[in-house]
Amino acid sequence: MNRRNFLHFLGISGVSFSVSSDFFAYAGKLPKSELAVLPSLPPSLADKLITLEGLHSNILIKWGEKISTDQSFGFNNDFLAFHQLGTNHGLLWVNHEYVNPLFIKGTERTKANIDAEMKEVGGSILEVKKIKNNWEVVKNSKYNRRLDANTKIPFAWDETIAGQKEAIGTMAGCAGGKTPWGTFLSCEENYDMFWGDRDRNGKERTKAWIQWNSVYPRPPEHYGWVIEIEPKTGKSKKLVSLGRCAHECAAVTKAKNGKIVAYTGDDANFEHLYKFISDSDSSLEKGKLYVANLEKGEWLSLDINDQPILKKSFKNQTEIQIFTREAAKMIGATPLDRPEDIEFDPLTGHVFIALTNNKIKKNFHGSILKISENDNDPGSLKFSHETFLTGGQEQGFACPDNMIFDPKGNLWFTTDISGDAINNGPYEGLGNNGLYVFIRSGTNAGKVIRLATAPVDAEFTGPCFSPDFKTLFLSVQHPGEQSESLESLTSTWPDGNIPKSSIVTLYGPLLDKIVSGAI
Ligand code: FEO
Ligand code: CA
Ligand code: CA
Ligand code: CA
Repeated sequence: MNRRNFLHFLGISGVSFSVSSDFFAYAGKLPKSELAVLPSLPPSLADKLITLEGLHSNILIKWGEKISTDQSFGFNNDFLAFHQLGTNHGLLWVNHEYVNPLFIKGTERTKANIDAEMKEVGGSILEVKKIKNNWEVVKNSKYNRRLDANTKIPFAWDETIAGQKEAIGTMAGCAGGKTPWGTFLSCEENYDMFWGDRDRNGKERTKAWIQWNSVYPRPPEHYGWVIEIEPKTGKSKKLVSLGRCAHECAAVTKAKNGKIVAYTGDDANFEHLYKFISDSDSSLEKGKLYVANLEKGEWLSLDINDQPILKKSFKNQTEIQIFTREAAKMIGATPLDRPEDIEFDPLTGHVFIALTNNKIKKNFHGSILKISENDNDPGSLKFSHETFLTGGQEQGFACPDNMIFDPKGNLWFTTDISGDAINNGPYEGLGNNGLYVFIRSGTNAGKVIRLATAPVDAEFTGPCFSPDFKTLFLSVQHPGEQSESLESLTSTWPDGNIPKSSIVTLYGPLLDKIVSGAI
């Protein structure tokens, strides 16, 4: 029995052996014996959502359920954000990232099939209430609404984008964020699957595998933006200021001078980490975009007037905003291993970035990067960095993706091993994707505990606490996505039929103990 199997045998496969150098400052003393470690859920290949004892789950809403008389909950729910209306009452924003045509109307690329798919992406706003200890969607609420691939959304920018003042629709919304003034941010990530992509000269760069562009030729430049949405009205705009790329998320905080700062990662191999510093304390529309150079520990300005090479190569700032990746590379941005979610440590203010993997570099397991801004000021243009946590078979997790801190500084995170790789090769023994928590203090400090495992082919995404931290809202995304036909489903979660992405609520005494620091 090797070490990994032995740890699995003991049920403590979630032990982390790879933490950053200042770990002791964080966590106090590590326990002397591994046997003192709180048991972690064992890996699972079951087509079930399994939770550790003391943690319960309930389904809040499933794909296809009616949310109003004429609208239904979209496909592949991802990022979740909560806008509080009252005690145990709020509006939940939900991204609907993409579709699996097999489960909509079929894989043939007909107009009718594509029209049906276009209603399934974008976002949902849901009024939710806790009734008798159970969160429910308020059916037919005046707040319930959908944004989809045909919703008109203006660009918040003085110049037109590909000749237009507004885009038709939003899709590919992966993760997102929230602003201090209460709006939701939704980030368009792999827009090229719908529209393809092209370079500044109009040369095709990637093909649209889902081929919506075969029926609706739309400019790819209208997608790949961060969208800002008003919770109560659904009014939205595309924030050109934050640049265009495969945005994973937008994590918003304030600089010491009160100006708004937003961090955003471009989730593709060898792409970059960006930071936007607003001119304002209450808007993300105007300011400067920067990109990280890790070797120098510097944020490099993408302003055309700060960089002679950009002035020489680009027509104007608008072209830089549209082709952000090209501009970033010209000025020396550091290539990263797919930056995904970004969160701020509530205890130190440090910035945590999930680097999920980079299979080209044979980095299969990913890591979590920590950035410390100079003077702990998000407005600073200099920083230091280090790896906080590394995934691996021995560590019991791989491919960290979405993250959220609780008030005690415990880092909750989900994993995204792609469906075709689950439990194979470098992922052997890890089982299905999961929800984990890195415990920050007490006897279990420094341990990574597997709290829940996802159904077949699924990943957990969008972890979001209720305002009282008694509930974790969580998306179960793309169960059964490896199914080749409706007759050979790899998953029938959650109801024994065609698999359905759903939002679940997690709650119970274990969650209460963790968020209160009692574990
Ligand atoms: Fe939609 Fe980068 O995950
Ligand atoms: Ca993600
Ligand atoms: Ca997050
Ligand atoms: Ca991912």
